[in-house]
Amino acid sequence: MTLLEEIPGGSFREASIPVLETKRLILRAPRLEDAKAVAALANDRRIAENTARIPHPYKTADAEGFISGANKNNGEAVFLITARNRVIMGACGVSMSDPSAPELGYWLGVPYWGKGFATESLHAVIDYAFDRFEHTALHAGARVTNPASRRVLEKCGFQWTGVGLYRIASIRSSAPIDRFRLERGIWSAIKGWGGGKVKVKT
Ligand SMILES: CC(C)(COP(=O)(O)OP(=O)(O)OC[C@H]1O[C@@H](n2cnc3c(N)ncnc32)[C@H](O)[C@@H]1OP(=O)(O)O)[C@@H](O)C(=O)NCCC(=O)NCCS
Repeated sequence: MTLLEEIPGGSFREASIPVLETKRLILRAPRLEDAKAVAALANDRRIAENTARIPHPYKTADAEGFISGANKNNGEAVFLITARNRVIMGACGVSMSDPSAPELGYWLGVPYWGKGFATESLHAVIDYAFDRFEHTALHAGARVTNPASRRVLEKCGFQWTGVGLYRIASIRSSAPIDRFRLERGIWSAIKGWGGGKVKVKT
């Protein structure tokens, strides 16, 4: 992963989110003008039912709400996942709803599934989160019916810690989830997966 630059000319909160570059992807903070493209991808029940906060149907106004609320809390980082040609493919990031348990979230548009993009994105986000902050561990949860997500977490070094319940907006109900945790020490031992040293341009 290469951490390219801070976004120039944006608001403070936008400017605090770097651009992350991986072999095939660019991760950057979302902007309001992205809302239509985000909604077109996220408006799919297969995405909504596997994430906590994405409602279904998901309209442009929902995407605008997501974007305008993103990257407001200290330590939180929300990225859009884009191809090298800047086409928007999905989103990922670290939420600080519980400041003692930073939590990864991620989704990709269905046309992009099964090509390793989620794993590649999370490698970059995990490197960013541990490099930039003092977190002792990162957390994640996946519905027990979501083996692809569990596999992504395992490929990133996460370990299963138990089960729990998440409120899933799209089904207006709670559902069982597997909880996962990635310790800083384990990340230190296995990092380098993105193939490169992190560079920061100020
Ligand atoms: C989960 C999600 C992010 C995965 O994205 P992706 O880019 O396809 O993931 P990757 O290609 O990096 O890795 C997927 C892994 O799961 C495996 N997998 C996919 N479907 C599977 C299944 N039904 N059973 C077991 N493994 C499966 C793939 O083979 C791959 O593992 P491998 O590299 O060892 O072969 C994507 O499916 C998605 O956005 N789903 C909806 C939202 C969601 O679930 N978000 C996660 C919230 S916890």
